Amino acid sequence: MKVAAVIPAAGFGHRLRSSVPKPFIRIAGKPLLAHTLLNLQSAFSFADTVVATAPRLVRRTLVLLKECGLDRKVRVVGGGRTRAESVRNAVFRVSPSCEWILVHDAARPLVDPSLVARLLKAAKSSGAALCALPATATVKDVKTGRVRGTLDRRNIFLAQTPQVFRKKFLLERYQKLGKKALRATDEAALFDGSRVRTAVVNGEVRNIKITTPDDLRLFQFYLNGKR
Ligand code: C5P
Repeated sequence: MKVAAVIPAAGFGHRLRSSVPKPFIRIAGKPLLAHTLLNLQSAFSFADTVVATAPRLVRRTLVLLKECGLDRKVRVVGGGRTRAESVRNAVFRVSPSCEWILVHDAARPLVDPSLVARLLKAAKSSGAALCALPATATVKDVKTGRVRGTLDRRNIFLAQTPQVFRKKFLLERYQKLGKKALRATDEAALFDGSRVRTAVVNGEVRNIKITTPDDLRLFQFYLNGKR
């Protein structure tokens, strides 16, 4: 399986309230982006890896890659205004020899090798796969501060990354959806209502997305537990 890893890392990270851009925040001596990339690289031998970063941070990202010894394996492209646009920019720059794309948020540093293996297996048979956690809370449909209804949580799953797609299928969806594709909050959403039925594998609670200062503390907590 020739797989390219695509890593969106071009978010603003405003909710972290940090003066350092999110990918460069150091935790346990390593930038967040390095944690994510090194974990991914240990999970699978990717034929290509493309990181999308804020255009003004491309040079700084190249320096980071060199510092972690990843500069030969990972390429950097300018991201877009939305996550979906950043991913699309990177997908279009992936080596033509790769038939599969694994998309993984730079902001999820605790990606586990066994999760990657399970996703690749599932994608091989369906063409598209994501990992997700079943909802454990009761889920309300709320608009302007008022509850409109209660959703059946047995059908609610919270999507994570990595997500894996046959590249040909992903490119077909970009072509079909045009600009609409740039509003999607994950790539699996591009397949909603299409003939490709995305397979779901069990996500992991510790596969957190670093969004707020609390998430950084949680990340540190998980890292401490590892030692
Ligand atoms: O915004 P969200 O929390 O969904 O971001 C998930 C991932 O997408 C993060 O790793 C972030 O850096 C990335 N992103 C991006 N380009 C944007 C916005 C977010 O690559 N314009």
